[in-house]
Amino acid sequence: MINDIPALYSGTPVRETVLGYGSQSISEAEKAAVGDALEGDYITRGPTVEEFEARVAELVGVDHAVASTSGTTALHLAGAAAGFGPGDEVITTPLTFASTAHAATYNDATPVFADIDPRRRTLDPDAVRERVTDDTEGLIPMHYGGHPADIDALLSVADDHDLTVVWDACHAFGGTWHDEPIGAQRDMAIFSFHPVKNITTGEGGMVVTDDDDLAARLRRLRSFDMNYDPDGHEDEPWYQVTEGIGYNYNLTDLQAALGLAQLERLDAFKQRRDEVRDRYDAAFADIVGIRTPPNPLDADPMYHLYAIEVSDAFGCDRGEFVNAMHAENVGVQVHYVPLHYHPYFQEKFGYEPGEFPESEAVYERLVSLPFHAEMDDSDVDDVVTAVQRLSTYHQ
Ligand SMILES: Cc1ncc(COP(=O)(O)O)c(C=O)c1O
Repeated sequence: MINDIPALYSGTPVRETVLGYGSQSISEAEKAAVGDALEGDYITRGPTVEEFEARVAELVGVDHAVASTSGTTALHLAGAAAGFGPGDEVITTPLTFASTAHAATYNDATPVFADIDPRRRTLDPDAVRERVTDDTEGLIPMHYGGHPADIDALLSVADDHDLTVVWDACHAFGGTWHDEPIGAQRDMAIFSFHPVKNITTGEGGMVVTDDDDLAARLRRLRSFDMNYDPDGHEDEPWYQVTEGIGYNYNLTDLQAALGLAQLERLDAFKQRRDEVRDRYDAAFADIVGIRTPPNPLDADPMYHLYAIEVSDAFGCDRGEFVNAMHAENVGVQVHYVPLHYHPYFQEKFGYEPGEFPESEAVYERLVSLPFHAEMDDSDVDDVVTAVQRLSTYHQ
């Protein structure tokens, strides 16, 4: 099978059906939990959301968890609660999903990109330091693929310049750094519960923080910025007033019921992701021109992606690699087209290709292979065979 001709060059595909790069895993118990929630008094935000928030706060070891409708809206809320606004600069990575930067742009602040450290694929603290100006108010590092950013060094830059840190931990739920859960670091961290993420609620997100004031602001902004108990109206129970522009970012009890049930399998999900990763690492160790994802010394991440780098030595470029995998019915993806390549960030903020060479060089080589807890060993082996036969063809 390994020596067969790749499907891209007229061979028979390794798989008959497509293996997606990511997938949810939903058990019968989880379906039942959502069914039960439908019988409850609340099908919008109610006691099950509170329970889900309390459980996430407990797992992460923080005082507050505020659920939202997605990682994107959680980032919006975090940027608003941090007070990011017009004239403020917020430093973030270009090698991320657009929503990371939208913690700034949704709040009319300016996203300022700084280059990455290619070893981690996360914000380079020295590059961040160079981008700090008198207008810099915040920092949004992203834990790429679940691998933690250089947390100590980034916190030190934030300390030196009094910056509010919003960790985009959308990829990293369930991991630890120096035995401390990822997400527990100040000031706020964001999780996503999109179906391909480490646990899912369909769509959903969460902001976690130890800061009481931030948590209060997050809760208000999430639900219309409504004061349900304004002074002077104690005898008028209907008197509820909006005190600013808030949003309806309420997660529902239906989603929270799924999230709570998924938490029961968090350890099992992590174990399976670790096993898949180990199997890939072993299989790719001897393939020329493939760099496997970085292994941190100081963390036990829950990996969201298995993103390899395909270099020239492999024998074909990344574009051909992606097309070859698709021809084998192996679903791969590229995370991410750097944000300074996107028309929105170019037209609005004047970014151009060439400004962040480390991010660009990594981007040119990146390919995310299928990676999720539903994969069995034969799925992993199919991916390995697809890569090996392409390698053999080109060597
Ligand atoms: C790094 C990162 N940040 C934010 C988000 C947004 O999360 P959501 O899809 O839950 O809005 C994503 C989603 O893919 C992401 O990968």
